[in-house]
Amino acid sequence: MGEPEPVRRRFGPDVTIGDLKTFMTPYVERLGYKFNTDEAFVTETLEAEIGILDETGDIYCPCRLRTGDPKQDAAIVCPCIAVNVEQFAAMRKCWCGLFIRTDIEDGSSLHGVVEAPEGPVDVRVAAESDMRDGEVRHLKLGKRDIALARVGGRFFALSNVCRHAFAPLADGYLDGYALMCPWHGWRYDVRDGTTDHPNADVKTYAVAVRGGEVFVTLG
Ligand code: SF4
Ligand code: FES
Repeated sequence: MGEPEPVRRRFGPDVTIGDLKTFMTPYVERLGYKFNTDEAFVTETLEAEIGILDETGDIYCPCRLRTGDPKQDAAIVCPCIAVNVEQFAAMRKCWCGLFIRTDIEDGSSLHGVVEAPEGPVDVRVAAESDMRDGEVRHLKLGKRDIALARVGGRFFALSNVCRHAFAPLADGYLDGYALMCPWHGWRYDVRDGTTDHPNADVKTYAVAVRGGEVFVTLG
């Protein structure tokens, strides 16, 4: 029997709440989230994460059960928002409410269990000013691969997967409203996902711009 494996830590032993906030803020901002406005709750939750870090070597979610298998548990390393895009967007927060959507002013009631409303949900994907006209960007929203395009000041979202040989359409380029596949040049109209090739149209998603933020509707 050898020595037990030392716990591998993502952060050093003296990590502070401020360090975690600095690490997490840019990451969650890109996903349309911010720390809850309830600072006492944020402090309490991050203290719990530091306790778990000391024990396990990583910043697992305090409100979810770990299996002990790092591969399986990777989905609950905080912040886990990218893994649970649709559900969190519907609840307007992550499970315990450490993070809330940037469009929420007061998160003090967004703690603990909140019923996620049924039906379509708007997911914030970018700031309007992030993208210039003629730009295409790849979005990974849960299991969905989406290409987000800006044409004539408007935003369009469509499946990122070309129906010919599955190339990533967001790597292509725009010719007016046509998104050209980077591999063999199939053209997709970003407004409705149509192409000249039979039975090969791609799915599109509704996009809304509110208060300078771009939202894609899922579900
Ligand atoms: S649910 Fe919230 S606190 Fe838990 S891991 Fe996800 S982001 Fe972190
Ligand atoms: S993979 Fe898109 S045109 Fe061939």
